[in-house]
Amino acid sequence: YYATNISVGKDKDKDNRSIGKSAQRCYSTVISSTEQPIVKKKKTLALLGTGWGSTTILKNLDTDKFDVVVISPRNYFLFTPLLPSCTVGTTENRSIMEPIRHIVGRHGKNIRFYEAQCTDIDPVAKELVLERSADKDSHNSVAAHTVASTTRVNYDYLVVGVGGTYNTFGTPGVQEHALFLKEMGDASKIRRRLKDTIEKASFGSVSEEERSRLLHMVVVGGGPTGVEFAGELHDLIEEDLSKWVPDLAKQVKITLIEALPHVLPSFDKKLVDYTQLMFKKNGIRLMTSTAVKEVKQNALVVRDADTGLETEIPYGTIVWAAGIRAREFAHTLRSKVPEIQNNGRGLIIDDFLRVKGAPNIWALGDCTVSKNAPLAQVASQQGKWLAKALNSMAKDDQQLADAYSQIERSVKPFVYSSNGSLAYIGGERAIAEIPMFNKSITAGGPLASLFWKSYCLWELFSVRSSMSVATDWIKRAIFGRHISVD
Ligand code: NAI
Repeated sequence: YYATNISVGKDKDKDNRSIGKSAQRCYSTVISSTEQPIVKKKKTLALLGTGWGSTTILKNLDTDKFDVVVISPRNYFLFTPLLPSCTVGTTENRSIMEPIRHIVGRHGKNIRFYEAQCTDIDPVAKELVLERSADKDSHNSVAAHTVASTTRVNYDYLVVGVGGTYNTFGTPGVQEHALFLKEMGDASKIRRRLKDTIEKASFGSVSEEERSRLLHMVVVGGGPTGVEFAGELHDLIEEDLSKWVPDLAKQVKITLIEALPHVLPSFDKKLVDYTQLMFKKNGIRLMTSTAVKEVKQNALVVRDADTGLETEIPYGTIVWAAGIRAREFAHTLRSKVPEIQNNGRGLIIDDFLRVKGAPNIWALGDCTVSKNAPLAQVASQQGKWLAKALNSMAKDDQQLADAYSQIERSVKPFVYSSNGSLAYIGGERAIAEIPMFNKSITAGGPLASLFWKSYCLWELFSVRSSMSVATDWIKRAIFGRHISVD
């Protein structure tokens, strides 16, 4: 394009008069053979999400080659392996949140960030509809109920990394009565509930029966999320509650309910046995081969897989960790190409992370369906792979223009390489499964816990986060946990 043809980028909401420095940065100037300046517009790459996949792309993308737009309702990256520890105050919330503005500031000049939800897409016009919800925390009731604002953003290439959310599998009462553990807001809700429950149960007028119900804490789902949360809960009771309210601490019961015959189906059998043994030792009651069928206000209905018998169990707190599903936007995009995107679990992608049937759209992480499990490691490796692929193709204009259809000519397909699995199980113990020399080394116990902690400190997104988490752990060891919330 010649300089006279410049427009202010593709955002329809952008003020045309503000073509100042930031807009000009989106263009690169090339001198032609006739010495006439030719200004070429950079391709707009829209990244949906600020999770493991999208944030890793942001870190690895050559942002001089693209006009990058990051869109997410969450303005921070969340280090999810430590989320269960935030529920009981082992780690402070902010320690595992990395502001996206910091990342944007560090990694690129040509990056815009919109704190908004992408609610619709027109893949033909290459247009996204963004919605910003009203200020939820506003004390002004009028502002809190104002209609959400909407805007539109155009893209040349789109990467969908919207992730997953909890799955209730349509079980009655779950949405209304259970707590979840997927986002930081969920962890804060659990922390508040724990604090309230302890205070309520220690209030003089509570009957013994009611106290026993209140102090029954149920975790549904024996995957890594459920197991890690049960472990953290045990630590809170054992290490802190037992000092603050010893009589009450003795009455707290933790039950973990799993539909399958054992917990942690994706881990090695030895580690499963070790975890189950440790849970027994720590007083965590395991109900395996038991499926939760309904959650009522103060009781849940479970069915024994062997006998088919249904029982009602009173509870005070229930945390639903029974699995995840792709977020709504993945289904919105699927609905645009229903004949090809016919898997209800998420976006079908190929080995080059291309969304099948949707030109110029890539997807990664928990919102996709592929041969890889929905793991943070997978999303992170996919992000790195895609950023490198796009960087290498951006060296050549034609190659970049054909990036979606011809990517296989330029790069090798994405292949996931497992770095192993780790999970904290409580009582300063963890389990680890590490691939080494074509074998899998397994370990469980305090040493594995040290390994898990080192991994967390190493993998945290910034030195600031690592220092904050290390400080939290030291403070916890010296002063105990802090579960106060207002
Ligand atoms: P998950 O899908 O791994 O586990 C959920 C469990 O809940 C399953 O074992 C399922 O049988 C059970 N379940 C489902 N419905 C039930 C019901 N009605 N009653 C009783 N039990 C029921 O989910 P999770 O733990 O949230 O993990 C999601 C993904 O993230 C997985 O791929 C997991 O491997 C990964 N992840 C890995 C971690 C690690 O490696 N440390 C930590 C957290 C997540």
